[in-house]
Formats: sequence, C-alpha cells, structure tokens
Amino acid sequence: MVRWINPTLSRKGAGNLSFKRCLGEKRLQVDRFLQKYLESKGGVPETLYRAMEYSLFAGGKRLRPILLLSGCELCGGDPLQAMPLACAVEMIHTYSLIHDDLPAMDNDDFRRGKPTNHRVFGEGIAVLAGDGLLNSAFELMLGIRPLDGGRLEAVRVIAEAAGVSGMIGGQVLDLEYEGKEIQLEDLKKMHSKKTGELISGAILAGALAAGCSGNKLQSIRNFGQSLGLAFQIRDDILDVIGDREVLGKDTGSDSSGNKSTYVSLLGLEEAKAAVGRLAAEAKENLAGFGNRAGFLVWLTDYLVDREF
Ligand code: IPE
Ligand code: IPE
Ligand code: MG
Ligand code: MG
Ligand code: MG
Repeated sequence: MVRWINPTLSRKGAGNLSFKRCLGEKRLQVDRFLQKYLESKGGVPETLYRAMEYSLFAGGKRLRPILLLSGCELCGGDPLQAMPLACAVEMIHTYSLIHDDLPAMDNDDFRRGKPTNHRVFGEGIAVLAGDGLLNSAFELMLGIRPLDGGRLEAVRVIAEAAGVSGMIGGQVLDLEYEGKEIQLEDLKKMHSKKTGELISGAILAGALAAGCSGNKLQSIRNFGQSLGLAFQIRDDILDVIGDREVLGKDTGSDSSGNKSTYVSLLGLEEAKAAVGRLAAEAKENLAGFGNRAGFLVWLTDYLVDREF
C-alpha cells in the first residue's frame, strides 16, 4: 500500500515540517512511478534509453507533477489514479528542458546539476531523447483505462498547454524576441505561454481528473496562471542573483544574452514585487477550498521564495 500524506496542513506550528515531508513524499512517488514506467518500455535503443533516463533522473523539483496530484487532491480525487497524467507532464517538461538547452536555443551546458543532455550524448541524440520523452508521455496517458470524462479532457488540456499555443508557442516568442526591444506586455505573454501554460495546465488536469468543473475549475485555472507567471519571473530573478551550484544550472543564461527578462525590463526590486503580487493573487483563488488547499498555499510560498 502506498502511504499518502493528507494535504490538509496547519498554517501554524509544525506546518512547515509537515509541508516538507508531504513534498518529499510526493516527489518520491513521482520518481518511483517514472522509474518503473521507463523500465517497462521495451525495444528502446540503448543510447536513447540512457539519454532519456539521464535527463529524467537528473534531479528536477517535480513541481508540475506535484501540482497535478495536488489539483486532484484539492477536488477530492485519488492522486494515485492521476499518477500517469502527472508523470506524463514531467516527461513533457523534461523534453522541453533538453530542447531549451540546445545550441540552437539557449545553448546551455549545465542543467539539473549535470552537463546538459547534448553535452553528454550529442545534439542528434538530445533532440531524439526530447522527442522520445514527448511521445512516451502520450503513450503513458493514452494507456489510462478507462480514459473517459475528466481524464480524457485532462489529456487534451495537457496537449494544448504543451503545444503550439502554449509552451511551444512561448518558446517561439522567446526566440523571436531575442535582440529586440519588447514591451512588458509582450514579455508577460511570452512567460505565460512558455512556462505558465504547462504549470496551470498541470493543476487543471489534476482537477479535471477528479471531476472538477464550473467555478471551482476556473479558480484553479486562475491560480495556476498566476503561479506560473510568478514562477518564471522568479526564474528570471535567479538567473541574476542565483547560485549556480544551488540552482543546478548556469546563471546569466538569459540575462547576459540578448533576451529580455523581468529583471532587465523592471529591475530586481520591481521584479520581486511582481512575484509577491502574483503569489498573493494566486492564493486568493484558493480561498473557496478551505483547509483542503493548505498544501497548495505552502507550495506557493515555497516556490516564490525558492533559491533553486
Ligand atoms: C525550469 O523549470 C524551466 C522553467 C520553466 C523556468 P524548473 O525550475 O521547474 O526545473 P526543474 O524541473 O526543477 O529542473
Ligand atoms: C524555459 O525558460 C522554459 C521552457 C519551456 C523550457 P528558460 O530558458 O528561462 O528556462 P531555464 O532558465 O533554461 O531553465
Ligand atoms: Mg529558454
Ligand atoms: Mg533556458
Ligand atoms: Mg531561465
């Protein structure tokens, strides 16, 4: 039997300890499921398998799957039932990082505390490892039985969030805006698409899998959008003030190139203030869920203050 810690966390006293334990437990469950899933795949060429495994288990925070599982819990669903959706989102996210680091994109050498995928396996295999993770994500989701109602809609939402009007679309804007003077509204749109969509899509998918609809679903969507944008602005901040070893990726990657970031447009203090405002906005959307939202309130505070 899998042990699952209740998401209803006290905001006082031992709350922080319970939150950390709860977070660690969820991470572990995600890691175990991903490991088993990858091991179950047959007929994968050895190099491709090693390249996919390398990036998937390099030590990500597992934020998106944890959000998906928490969205499911928030709406009274069984998070273990939502695990294939959650792990599929992590595979999609990991593919996006492998491709984001390629020389044709951000040209980064260090990710999740290790050399980037293309540095180890070469560009060709890195492209294919990313493709492989993306396809595997859909194989995993389409293997859910029964795949109907909320869970089918959840798969559609994940596909859209990761797709051309979501994450991929945002990455295109990121490339097109390079070296250009852009307005804050453009930057907001780019960040919301390249990062916000998959984050809000993850929690929304969890809620859908639990059968959530109507106003509650809208509140969860709003929560995810505010949190997603705050998360990317914090990423821009850490790109300037973060510690390479703690972050597990190079700093100065976005800010020292010719990309616009919240820090380059607004300055450090204003960027930090924007993160604070968005986090407060995000949490307002959880008010209607009462105690059940305890874990997500903690998670929001934890993410906007994060150092990695
Ligand atoms: C990094 O995402 C890419 C962004 C969207 C900012 P994370 O900060 O969640 O990276 P991992 O998954 O923990 O490595
Ligand atoms: C990447 O944004 C967002 C993705 C969709 C992968 P960044 O390029 O800022 O992410 P990092 O800083 O490399 O993790
Ligand atoms: Mg990038
Ligand atoms: Mg990058
Ligand atoms: Mg960045």
